[in-house]
Amino acid sequence: MKQLISNLKPFRRLIMTLTLMFAGGGLMAQDTTGSGTFWTQEVIFYSLLTLVFITAVLVLLVALYVLQMLKTFVLKDMSEEQRVAYEAEPGLFDKLWNKWNNLRPMEEEEALILDHDYDGIKELDNHLPPWWKGLFYLTIVYGVIYIMVFHVFKTAPLQAEQYKLEMAAAEDLKNNIPQPEVDFDENTVTFTDDTAELLAGKGIFESQCAICHKADGGGVAGPNLTDQYWKNGGGMQNIYKVVKNGVSNTAMISWETILNPVKMRQVSSYVLTLEGTNPPGAKAPEGDLWEPESDSTAVNQ
Ligand code: HEC
Repeated sequence: MKQLISNLKPFRRLIMTLTLMFAGGGLMAQDTTGSGTFWTQEVIFYSLLTLVFITAVLVLLVALYVLQMLKTFVLKDMSEEQRVAYEAEPGLFDKLWNKWNNLRPMEEEEALILDHDYDGIKELDNHLPPWWKGLFYLTIVYGVIYIMVFHVFKTAPLQAEQYKLEMAAAEDLKNNIPQPEVDFDENTVTFTDDTAELLAGKGIFESQCAICHKADGGGVAGPNLTDQYWKNGGGMQNIYKVVKNGVSNTAMISWETILNPVKMRQVSSYVLTLEGTNPPGAKAPEGDLWEPESDSTAVNQ
């Protein structure tokens, strides 16, 4: 027993690593079970697959190690002649190698050449190496299983079907993204001066809108949002409408599918706070002067 333990020493690191990998896989699977959505199921599936694979490798390593140990014991009990005889025998690997590459040797080629002569080209009738034939038979078996699974019993979906299934699952996932309940639409939305909301709006503006309107709102590809001139009307509701629906045939897209109503209100409110900031290098005004008096929801009344 003592010897067994000391023999195991060099393997300690390997065993530790494998154990840790194990634990890691377990943790990951646990982490994701909560929401049970489409892709988390995939994560769990592949984690389990990895786990099974690692276990298999581990079992194999242990089996090999035990075999090696047994061999040491057996050799120890052998007499000198027996040991010499044993060691003279080709090893398991050599035997396998020879078996799997079992070609008739060159010396026999004379007997293998067929009688035909095609304009000087002769045929050497050596058989195929067994490993090749093995693979070939395997493909036949695989083919039969494949036909059974995919075409006869239809236990698994074909590619086109699987594509449809995954698209449906993704669509499902998309539809299940929780949308905040709001009590306003583009006709009733009002400006919010809540600091946290405006800050959130600023974040959205800088990450999504600044590329066309400039971080300070002065305008690049999109118009200046800091003046009192608006192409599509000023004031909270018009701005919200433009953000929600976009302006057709311009680079201003509809943001409805990207930002939820709360976010659209946040960024629209933030846009309103830019009015009158006069950033340097701003674009010239475009559109018509918006009279705040005519808009009960405007900020700068
Ligand atoms: C790809 C460039 C681009 C991006 C990104 C973009 N816009 Fe625009 N935006 C434009 C263009 C171009 C117009 C002018 C449309 C027109 O001609 O009426 C515009 C118009 C507007 C208007 C109306 C201006 C007016 O004078 O009527 C508002 C408000 C606005 N954008 C806000 C936003 C907000 C908020 C975002 C980010 C969520 C955003 N835009 C992102 C290009 C962009």
